[in-house]
Amino acid sequence: MTTTEQPPLLEARGLTKHFRGRGGLLGRGGAPVKAVDGVSFSVGAGQTLGIVGESGCGKSTTGRLLMRLLEPTSGTVLLDGRDVGSLNRAEAQEYRRQVQMVFQNPASSLNPRQTVGAAIAAPLHAQGIEPPGGVKTRVRELMDRVGLRPDHYNRFPHEFSGGQKQRVGIARALALEPRLIICDEPVSALDVSVQAQVVNLLQDIQADTGVAYLFIAHDLSVVRHFADRVAVMYLGKVMESGATRDVFDHPRHPYTRALLSAVPQPDPDADRGRRIRLTGDLPTPANPPSGCVFRTRCPLRPTLGEAEQARCAGEIPPVPDDEGPACHFADRAVAAH
Ligand SMILES: Nc1ncnc2c1ncn2[C@@H]1O[C@H](COP(=O)(O)OP(=O)(O)O)[C@@H](O)[C@H]1O
Ligand SMILES: [Mg+2]
Repeated sequence: MTTTEQPPLLEARGLTKHFRGRGGLLGRGGAPVKAVDGVSFSVGAGQTLGIVGESGCGKSTTGRLLMRLLEPTSGTVLLDGRDVGSLNRAEAQEYRRQVQMVFQNPASSLNPRQTVGAAIAAPLHAQGIEPPGGVKTRVRELMDRVGLRPDHYNRFPHEFSGGQKQRVGIARALALEPRLIICDEPVSALDVSVQAQVVNLLQDIQADTGVAYLFIAHDLSVVRHFADRVAVMYLGKVMESGATRDVFDHPRHPYTRALLSAVPQPDPDADRGRRIRLTGDLPTPANPPSGCVFRTRCPLRPTLGEAEQARCAGEIPPVPDDEGPACHFADRAVAAH
């Protein structure tokens, strides 16, 4: 007997984006920038997947690939198990309704000449949707949902604080009742005091509506309390992924361990207070190291023998599909610590 298993809401399989490199004749033909290089993960309905990693590791490119703002070089994105690269026009429009995005910089993602009400109404107009009570009523409901006052309707973005602008961005993302919202560092540009309010708002909305999030962050502490699952990226690849609690409490990849060791521990007695410093410069995605892309900065490297180091340089560690560390010597990382 076969059991029919529900496919995840959204899945990325071997997702890759290589940008054409600069340099060479006519500014072309340089080495390709491997911004995203074979990334796989899934997001369940109503769940939050956190994607974390340092600046430049390919988080935003991943988000833009999922939004279909960029064509992948290879790999696939699936919604409900269906390849979104082969949707017809009507299906592609439906995908654009179901998957929405909140951007990092609320100021630059809003048109300065458009009122807040018009900005929130724009997705409804773009999709030709007339809500039962009319667009205005729907926009007012959305404004109320995100904590904006009705009299904000005719105001312009420049009259708003950063936090309020991000609330507009969230209301706009909610307008079409999406099933997934890609949040690309939605609080990074906000004052620390405002960050928690916006994160709480996103959590409340999820509890109310069951929307799923792909939550991109470089701040691990945000993801820790919010995400069900987490994927850690480095130089265009997923180094480790799994249930948030597992990854945070028992990090297995040396990169995850280093990242976490830099986060202040709430518990001063925590054994993991020891900071692991990464030495060496971050390589460029136009010329990533062979084999394991992390090997040039890996804290484990001094403990490895010559043959082991040759393996790191020669063999790409298998990319974890859904779980676990992409490291040849992950067990060593745990033992050595
Ligand atoms: N349009 C582009 N053309 C060339 N390189 C790009 C482009 N967009 C991003 N990159 C490069 O891809 C890498 C990943 O960028 P990005 O996805 O923005 O990282 P993150 O969001 O994690 O900071 C960076 O090296 C960046 O410079
Ligand atoms: Mg980014």
